[in-house]
Amino acid sequence: MTDKQMTSLTIRRPDDWHLHLRDGAMLQAVLPETTRHFARAIIMPNLVPPVVTSADAVGYRDRINAALPDGAVFEPLMTLYLTEDTDPDDVAAAHAAGIATAVKLYPAGATTNSASGVRDFDKVRPVLDRMAEIGMPLCVHGEVTSSNIDIFDREAVFIDKILKPIRKKNPDLRVVMEHVTTEDAVDYVRDNHKNLAATITTHHLIINRNHILAGGIKPHYYCLPVAKREQHRIALVQAAISGDKRFFLGTDSAPHTDPAKLQTCGCAGIFSAPNTMSCLAEVFDVAGALKKLEAFTSLNGPNFYKLPANEQTLTLTKGDPVTYPAQIDTGDGPVTVFDPGFPLHWHVST
Ligand code: NCD
Ligand code: ZN
Repeated sequence: MTDKQMTSLTIRRPDDWHLHLRDGAMLQAVLPETTRHFARAIIMPNLVPPVVTSADAVGYRDRINAALPDGAVFEPLMTLYLTEDTDPDDVAAAHAAGIATAVKLYPAGATTNSASGVRDFDKVRPVLDRMAEIGMPLCVHGEVTSSNIDIFDREAVFIDKILKPIRKKNPDLRVVMEHVTTEDAVDYVRDNHKNLAATITTHHLIINRNHILAGGIKPHYYCLPVAKREQHRIALVQAAISGDKRFFLGTDSAPHTDPAKLQTCGCAGIFSAPNTMSCLAEVFDVAGALKKLEAFTSLNGPNFYKLPANEQTLTLTKGDPVTYPAQIDTGDGPVTVFDPGFPLHWHVST
């Protein structure tokens, strides 16, 4: 059977290698949307204040576990927010104790809640050296932040100005370039085989910058890194469906309440947890690549993180359009769900 003729597909349960769960009432509301389909997720540390130390990570992990819906089997894989004051010993201890899976690098000011991020990359060199020694991955938000660099060029410039020097000085450091949005990033990952991988979000496989800006401004499609030209979206789809082990899913599902997004200076972030698997099945189906979906969502990530793939499975079945809520209610206010702009036909069952 060709991929196009398939109407049902069973894959190992997926993992989300880049997820924002927030805290408090928001955490409570959004967590079930992820645990319904995903077995594990790399949890972003950009709370206010951020999750910086191993003690912070233990506290946050406990709050996530306490918010799990009844019967959910889900493992939050915690990350530490890299600051210029991060203590290499604390990072190594957190890794050894299984408290933190990775460290997250935000260039200062790059995105939502990134004020404590790194300004001077030499200051974090001792932490990066130690991580290379112990094999702990660095998750990178790959955008420069200088106001003189055009927002659509910030990822490509980051690769040249920041990532290449970091990797040159520290070739043993294992790096995940997160939520890549450009052909430049895809090419960079493809051309560099050692210690480098990339996550791709669901929404960047579906939207380009016209979705945000043409025919009226659409705040619910605004996220960082911002979606680029169609040529870049196509490069991302090609990478995702290629089966190449270095590309895997990180949804970057990032809930903000509607009032926080719909204002003069609206927040960046797209909330895609509820319909991500149906969206991805649709993208892979249209590309005639359904048989590669499992590699992208369930195999390549564990392979890079040196973890076993999940034993449980998930079944996708093609049928009448899937229904999902336009918004979910949270104790903090309504959060709009990602609208792919086309009907979704793939129903998920566990
Ligand atoms: C994220 C958020 O809201 O925390 N926003 C986003 O647009 N992706 C931050 C991030 O990952 O950049
Ligand atoms: Zn993110």
